[in-house]
Amino acid sequence: MLVVETVDKLRTCLAEARAEGKDVGLVPTMGALHDGHASLVKRSVEENGVTVVSVFVNPTQFNDKGDLERYPRTLDADCHLLEGLGVDYVFAPSVEEVYPEPDTRVFDFSPLDKVMEGVYRPGHFNGVAQIVSKLFMYVEPDRAYFGEKDFQQLAIIREMVRQLGLDLEIIGCPIVREADGLALSSRNALLTPEQRTTALAISKSLFASVDFAKSHSLEETKQMVESAVADTEGLELEYYEIVNGTTLQTVHSWDEADYIVGCITVYCGKVRLIDNIRYK
Ligand code: PAF
Repeated sequence: MLVVETVDKLRTCLAEARAEGKDVGLVPTMGALHDGHASLVKRSVEENGVTVVSVFVNPTQFNDKGDLERYPRTLDADCHLLEGLGVDYVFAPSVEEVYPEPDTRVFDFSPLDKVMEGVYRPGHFNGVAQIVSKLFMYVEPDRAYFGEKDFQQLAIIREMVRQLGLDLEIIGCPIVREADGLALSSRNALLTPEQRTTALAISKSLFASVDFAKSHSLEETKQMVESAVADTEGLELEYYEIVNGTTLQTVHSWDEADYIVGCITVYCGKVRLIDNIRYK
């Protein structure tokens, strides 16, 4: 496995791989890797001759400076994990390499980016689109792998690929959870042991709501999750939205769409956690 820091070097390495007829898989990450990332990487290694994992904490997608500063950075441990998974290249550029000048591109993914994270993290998805589109230009992957935990991000990346007319396959991979249900996230590393226990109320209420939904209206189900989180000391609910899984727009009854997902964001202390659950 080679750790590459420049775009030029990455392009040279990938040109060689392509000349050998190999497909290229890309797993974009911000590092602090866990088993959720490992599941994406394993899938890429299975499906492609060459796998590139990018490790880059992208400043343009953080609307909160403190959040950017607190974001865990563990490149050595990440490389150790990736080597064991059979990754070919780790692309770990500097901020200057990726943004030699400010990226002024403005994307519009309406209405997908006007709800949920788009409301609470203004500019976030524009930053995600900036970095992911750059990574797609550098790597020109045949397939790129993203987790379904970032449900809205996945929908927006699919839309970006459609808008830009890019020729690659976006592969969404299921959320990976701890045995007790907590969705894996790089941010979990920032939780104290007590906060980690407190955070369990998020997945627990989502799981319970799936059963609850069988005999209750959508609004009652939404309220049940909101109350369960609000009643847990140490958690602060930012939003719980039950949405059409394709358009991401709020739905008000179970009959309104064939694909319905509940998306939640909760603060546990200063740590912002997201999760989601599919109802149908
Ligand atoms: O999901 C993430 O970790 C990031 O948003 C991504 C896709 C790597 C872009 O920085």
